[in-house]
Amino acid sequence: MHCFKVLRFVSLWSKVPLGSLHPSSGIVAQFDADSYSQKVNLGVNTYRDNQGNPVLLESVQKAMQIVREKNLDNEYPPIEGLQPFIQAAIKLGYGEKYYEKNGKYIAGCQVLSGTGAIRLGFELLNKFVTPGTQVFVPNPTKSLHPTIAKIAGLQSKEYRYFNPITRQVDFSGLFEDLQIAPNGSIVLFHACSHNPTGCDLDIDQWRQLLDLTKQKGILPFFDMTYQGFTSGDMDQDAQAIRMFTEAGVPIMLGQSFDKNMGLSGQRTGCLSIVCSNEREKEMVVSQLNLIARSLWSCPPVHGARIAETILNNQKIYQLWLDEVKHMAQRIKTMRQGFTKALKDLGSPHDWSHLSKQFGMYSLTGIGQLQIKELMEKYHIYLLDNGGISIAGLNDTNIKYVAMAFHEVTKNTRL
Ligand SMILES: Cc1ncc(COP(=O)(O)O)c(C=O)c1O
Repeated sequence: MHCFKVLRFVSLWSKVPLGSLHPSSGIVAQFDADSYSQKVNLGVNTYRDNQGNPVLLESVQKAMQIVREKNLDNEYPPIEGLQPFIQAAIKLGYGEKYYEKNGKYIAGCQVLSGTGAIRLGFELLNKFVTPGTQVFVPNPTKSLHPTIAKIAGLQSKEYRYFNPITRQVDFSGLFEDLQIAPNGSIVLFHACSHNPTGCDLDIDQWRQLLDLTKQKGILPFFDMTYQGFTSGDMDQDAQAIRMFTEAGVPIMLGQSFDKNMGLSGQRTGCLSIVCSNEREKEMVVSQLNLIARSLWSCPPVHGARIAETILNNQKIYQLWLDEVKHMAQRIKTMRQGFTKALKDLGSPHDWSHLSKQFGMYSLTGIGQLQIKELMEKYHIYLLDNGGISIAGLNDTNIKYVAMAFHEVTKNTRL
């Protein structure tokens, strides 16, 4: 009889620590577990309608119907994605006029939304920039910018963006930091609806940055995850893209249709890069393909088919533009309503920054103790930096949220 020694496997995973995700992920879990009927989630990072629900836009429904009727197969798409989608996304981002003249020089690749655009773009940069080239990101910014830079092997550095005292863009700080950045640096800009501050640059500030970009040979990487959410107008929100490209600056652009089409579960986006000629474009696309192949092989098709149908069908496109306008207007109305409600309650603080900011996000300026009290006493959930998504407010909860904000801040300095 053989005698076997029983070996116990020591699991490789037994010492793995808990990975901590972005704070908004924790908020979702806490919010879901809360049974209080008046609970409010201000940590949502997709649009909510006036009933507090995610949107299924009419334009998206119409496009889905058209896609369904085409009875398309589910074969692999090309690695770079669906061309009709890529071209329509580029046209939307750069504007028709620029696209007609220069579209043939723009390398495009369908990606997994805004996150995928940053990942693919940063991987490409890491492969070809001079070693040591830094990528400058605003402080604060979406945490995935520095995280992805690190994963992609790029060194990221912050430039000043927000002044917590004035609660506005710290433009002189921003300009100073980029002035002393090494020539040829990569600079990430939020094209509109800055997350998390809600503070955007104005046309004059973009003009100054354009001059600096040309002077220093900066490579601008525009993250345009919220086109339409600042002004309700696609062209207006892309003004920086238009200004830089018209001036001949070779930019990189990440676009997402998660928010403005409500397609977050479909991971629909586009990365594009302005090249000098068609051969350069071909080479860049080939490199994008090589990298995308090892990241996700090829992108999912359904969201791209929906988005492409919307963008290429004049009637549905017009309907979508109106729907985006409506979403942007609702956010604006909530901003003004919230500020007014706090004023009407006699708040000793100046909340006017909330109505002056743009897009879904705002940094309220409230501190840790007030955030804790809002969660524990009033069942209102927000980010631990005091950031809120204005889209979480609606006609039903706005007065309650204002009352709670007033109660937790009336005896404190902000
Ligand atoms: C500024 C910014 N960039 C990128 C992303 C990621 O976008 P997506 O959800 O489309 O991947 C977000 C998402 O919230 C964002 O706010």
